[in-house]
Amino acid sequence: MVKMSLMISAVAAFILLLTMVPLSEAALSANYYDQMCPQAENIIYQTVCNASIYDPKVPARLLRMFFHDCFIRGCDASLLLDSTPENKAEKDGPPNISVRSFYVIDDAKTKLEKACPNTVSCADSQGPWWNVLKGRKDGRVSIANETRNLPSPFSNTTTLIQSFAKRGLSIKDLVALSGGHTLGFSHCSSFSARLHNFSAEHFSDPSINSEFAINLKKKCPIPNKDHNAGEFLDSTSSTFDNDYYKRIVMGKGVFGSDQALFEDYRTRWIVDSFAKDEKLFFREFAASMVKLGNVGVIEDGEIRVKCSIVN
Ligand code: HEM
Ligand SMILES: *[C@@H]1O[C@H](CO)[C@@H](O)[C@H](O)[C@H]1NC(C)=O
Ligand SMILES: *[C@@H]1O[C@H](CO)[C@@H](O)[C@H](O)[C@H]1NC(C)=O
Ligand SMILES: *[C@@H]1O[C@H](CO)[C@@H](O)[C@H](O)[C@H]1NC(C)=O
Ligand SMILES: *[C@@H]1O[C@H](CO)[C@@H](O)[C@H](O)[C@H]1NC(C)=O
Ligand SMILES: *[C@@H]1O[C@H](CO)[C@@H](O)[C@H](O)[C@H]1NC(C)=O
Repeated sequence: MVKMSLMISAVAAFILLLTMVPLSEAALSANYYDQMCPQAENIIYQTVCNASIYDPKVPARLLRMFFHDCFIRGCDASLLLDSTPENKAEKDGPPNISVRSFYVIDDAKTKLEKACPNTVSCADSQGPWWNVLKGRKDGRVSIANETRNLPSPFSNTTTLIQSFAKRGLSIKDLVALSGGHTLGFSHCSSFSARLHNFSAEHFSDPSINSEFAINLKKKCPIPNKDHNAGEFLDSTSSTFDNDYYKRIVMGKGVFGSDQALFEDYRTRWIVDSFAKDEKLFFREFAASMVKLGNVGVIEDGEIRVKCSIVN
């Protein structure tokens, strides 16, 4: 528990300290709320920190939520909207993460509405440590079907590069942001195709370390009675570090899409340099998170009163 709050502080500190906020002509700014709601950052930070002490999975879930939100219709909190009788929302789309920690954001938002009514958008209340540019507006549209535009854990490097490029993100951003997998867990369904009947020539994906493949097969046999079975995405899944890259270098990436980063000359050298230099990874992750946070920022949105419903 202590470790987790230290992790949050560390992540918060490095992002806030290391990011040089590249202010464009857009209205986003790191101190947007300084005048409008000076308590905002603190309220968000306290809420996330407290929630993480009760449930150590919270940081991983919020981080993944942020990624999914930004990749579909930009960072407009469209992911937070509930489905209605007329519309199935992103929340309930195929790689569905609806059981995740939405309550933490709702909780922060409730406290923010009390302190500063109609000021802090839902898109901005997702977390202080990565979401450093503030002032974005909330979208009004959320469509489950659009989640199929997310990259898949079976994607090859070319597809991943294209998917990121469509959002204005570079190859370096792809490799740095994939480091988000230093936190977190995956169910067998996202990688078991690598283990059994992979191709006509290979029973298992030849890029997997063979010892690791044996371990994964034990956790994910076919058939598998345990629907919650899976594997952590690196060996230190509650610590934000560069272990994810070290494991990829050893052939121990869990997803095909993780391991693919080491199989392609365009990304391999970046994986290598993050595996060797953790500080470099932290700096590049922070910079890429700022870029991710600027994807598709909308101007004609609203400031939702409740994150799960349009006004
Ligand atoms: C590059 C393309 C990416 C693909 C294909 C991908 C795919 C996935 C998949 C399949 C899972 C596991 C879902 C499950 O079975 O439970 C997952 C988990 C996760 N992803 Fe990604 N992801 C990508 C990029 C990212 C990025 C950019 C971030 C954040 C910066 C991120 C953060 C996470 C986190 C934190 C988890 C763990 C969630 C948890 O433990 O609850 N991913 N990802
Ligand atoms: C901390 O989180 C727990 C669990 O989510 C909640 O019950 C409690 O009210 C929170 N405390 C504060 C001070 O926010
Ligand atoms: C996923 O979404 C479906 C509807 O598309 C829903 O029935 C199911 O309960 C959701 N599963 C989880 C784990 O949230
Ligand atoms: C999603 O939208 C596409 C394009 O409009 C359509 O072809 C497809 O059938 C839709 N899928 C679902 C599951 O609604
Ligand atoms: C990558 O995947 C795409 C989509 O599945 C496929 O069309 C393409 O041929 C693959 N590229 C390589 C180099 O394997
Ligand atoms: C692998 O493929 C063979 C032949 O198609 C099939 O008989 C077998 O059940 C498959 N095994 C698994 C684990 O899917």
